[in-house]
Amino acid sequence: MPESTEQTAAQIEVAAGIPEWPTAPIEQAAAPHSAEPVVDIRDVRKVYSTGAVEVEALRGVSLRVDAGEYVAIMGPSGSGKSTLMNIIGCLDLLTSGSYRLAGEDVSHMSEEDLAMVRNRRIGFVFQQFNLLSGLTAWRNVELPLTYAGVRRTERKERAVRLLERVGLGDRIDHRPTELSGGQQSRVALARALVNRPSMVLADEPTGALDSKSTADVLSVFEELNSDGHTIVLITHEADVAAHARRVVRFRDGLIESDSGAAR
Ligand SMILES: Nc1ncnc2c1ncn2[C@@H]1O[C@H](COP(=O)(O)OP(=O)(O)O)[C@@H](O)[C@H]1O
Ligand SMILES: [Mg+2]
Repeated sequence: MPESTEQTAAQIEVAAGIPEWPTAPIEQAAAPHSAEPVVDIRDVRKVYSTGAVEVEALRGVSLRVDAGEYVAIMGPSGSGKSTLMNIIGCLDLLTSGSYRLAGEDVSHMSEEDLAMVRNRRIGFVFQQFNLLSGLTAWRNVELPLTYAGVRRTERKERAVRLLERVGLGDRIDHRPTELSGGQQSRVALARALVNRPSMVLADEPTGALDSKSTADVLSVFEELNSDGHTIVLITHEADVAAHARRVVRFRDGLIESDSGAAR
């Protein structure tokens, strides 16, 4: 399948903070810094069946990501990166194998429970950012919190704090069209962090940016990682992957190399 920027309806809803199912109150989120790995995937297979044809997109993948890591996932088109991202992000079900996310076994969860887990645990950043054009920067950032039942004053406080954190403290009332590509991606990053997720999962976050904006966004990722945020980034670009502390390469549905496997 050619590399595509198309997103599923679920991905767009997630990025816009619109859950298909009710979100658990944010206060119920488990302590973020347990000793458990954030991602613990063992021997995962994913088979797509379209008509009579079966495609084995993941053929037995084991991957562990500890809290505080910054991992880039690379690989040629069709190697299974997006499939892995959908599984790590609880957007799709695995065919066999197991997945523990921050200590919780999500391998056999219903789609409804998976939706709750991902709203609590994962901050998504997609290539198109999926910001709502009618809303100002801080409104975009606070949106996931409205669904999580957080009070308005706290929502604004948290949104503004995060926008300041990504260097946009003077742009909180700007709409997406009034912001550069790099600034829009920083709003998307702030929004991804607002639910205090266990991990930020970014799919080609620099794919639509010029080189200056790319450098700009990568420096924010690095700062966030220095603050202790766990980041998993999918990219085509070797110079983008070079910013991560660990690079995992995919080929034909298998991990081909891993520069820094945790144990
Ligand atoms: N929804 C789907 N239905 C059927 N086959 C799919 C589907 N999504 C991906 N595939 C196939 O699975 C393989 C891995 O695809 P993908 O994970 O999108 O790779 P990448 O993101 O690395 O380009 C490819 O052979 C692709 O054609
Ligand atoms: Mg892909």
